[in-house]
Amino acid sequence: MAKRIRLACGIALGCATVCGAQSEAADKATFQKICGTCHASSMVSDFKTEAEWTATVDQMVSIGAKGSSEEFDRVLRYLAGNFTRVNVNTGTAAQIAPVLGVSEAVAQTVVDYRMHNGSFATLDDLKKVPGLPASELDSRKARIAFR
Ligand code: HEC
Repeated sequence: MAKRIRLACGIALGCATVCGAQSEAADKATFQKICGTCHASSMVSDFKTEAEWTATVDQMVSIGAKGSSEEFDRVLRYLAGNFTRVNVNTGTAAQIAPVLGVSEAVAQTVVDYRMHNGSFATLDDLKKVPGLPASELDSRKARIAFR
């Protein structure tokens, strides 16, 4: 049954919000399960770059963290959406998207904008990119680096 629901969900149009929230909750549950085995998952509290998280997760695996590759994908996706810092002047669209909470297409407009207009110096510069949700940027500003 659960499988059928997931399948229907993936196919149906307009389910982005509902399905997004569901998979976000599933990602969080997987993160708490795998990363809360040896220490509390609240041990994860600092922001790191994507590369630093990949290295940390590799290190945890080397000392015994266990899960399927699908589960580690979920863990990394959860970390990208919640605990990852990105430099908006050097990051790729794929790296910027989960940190800003936007689609990769919108993140690509950030990359295009900086190519045409030069580096962003401040959050206000970043807000000039059409289509970015300003209030979301404010709430995520601790994770947005400019250099
Ligand atoms: C097999 C046990 C184990 C599991 C499972 C585990 N950890 Fe750890 N983790 C440790 C130990 C032991 C330390 C402390 C030693 C150290 O700092 O290397 C630690 C330290 C940490 C630290 C603090 C040090 C640092 O590098 O910033 C973070 C962050 C962390 N773990 C994240 C995670 C994440 C994310 C996961 C899930 C993928 C995870 N851990 C799963 C054993 C584990």
